[in-house]
Amino acid sequence: ARKIILDCDPGHDDAIALLMAAANPKIELVGVTTVAGNSTIEKTTLNAQKVCELAGIHVPIAQGASRPLVREQVTASSIHGESGLDGPSLPTPTKPLLEIDAVDFIIQTLSQSDEKITLVPVGPLTNIALAIRKEPKILDKIEEIVFMGGGRFGNWTPAAEFNIYVDAEAAQIVLDSGVPITMVGLDLTHQAIATKAIQQQIAQIDHKVARFVVELLEFFSETYKEVFGFEGAPIHDACCVAYCIDPDVFTTSHLRVDVETNGQFTYGMTVIDLHGVTKRAANVHVAMELNQDKFWSLMLDTLQNYR
Ligand code: BDR
Ligand code: CA
Repeated sequence: ARKIILDCDPGHDDAIALLMAAANPKIELVGVTTVAGNSTIEKTTLNAQKVCELAGIHVPIAQGASRPLVREQVTASSIHGESGLDGPSLPTPTKPLLEIDAVDFIIQTLSQSDEKITLVPVGPLTNIALAIRKEPKILDKIEEIVFMGGGRFGNWTPAAEFNIYVDAEAAQIVLDSGVPITMVGLDLTHQAIATKAIQQQIAQIDHKVARFVVELLEFFSETYKEVFGFEGAPIHDACCVAYCIDPDVFTTSHLRVDVETNGQFTYGMTVIDLHGVTKRAANVHVAMELNQDKFWSLMLDTLQNYR
């Protein structure tokens, strides 16, 4: 099984990513780390704990950065509600957090591991950038970084996707790290829309975890309709986990990608050199085309494992 650390800011789609990572035999989830993003660090951490409590997931959880490296904090209550995970009712966590924080957990886990580990950040890249800066030796232990963020268009501004917008400086540190990187941006994740038909298929799984996913999707679809006029919500973060389970779930192109950290209208944009005009070395495998049949059957099969 592929060892991963899921770094998240739950978040409806983060919660689904977490459920998938914990239940698929192709993945060994060695830990969950949290970051401020969709909501404050206190709330995203509590949400991660609650999701694990509900689903009976027993993995270490470490709380991470409470704010971006340079900028002021931005949260996404317009999409995920005040709690960061509005909609479903969730149990009170009974298990404590780790005493060390996310950055030290990432450093320790990688340093002590004989095998390489894949990092899967599905929120702002603050923790990953901090860990790389604090202990650059961990770079040798990173199998790959599979992150959700960026794309050729934005959702927070016309140019910027939310995770990159929140901490663009952190994102650039990660892109410059030299490790293998797969970027799962909006171009890809907007092909993973949980339509009514998909929600009905999930609802057919007669289990509380599947019911929880349906409740998540109901709330998430509501806000996506209000804010973007979509029918059904893209479950962005789950695409990263699906890729770790089966890399054939989408195609990628190896390209040069950098993050705009100054632009007046374009702060947080991922600048993707699609035609190689910069002649600079490619640093990112950019996710392009989702195999939707594969993706949804993988997701449904994985949720079945909770029965
Ligand atoms: C990303 O932003 C968050 O709201 C989602 O959880 C996802 O990680 C999509 O832009
Ligand atoms: Ca997220």
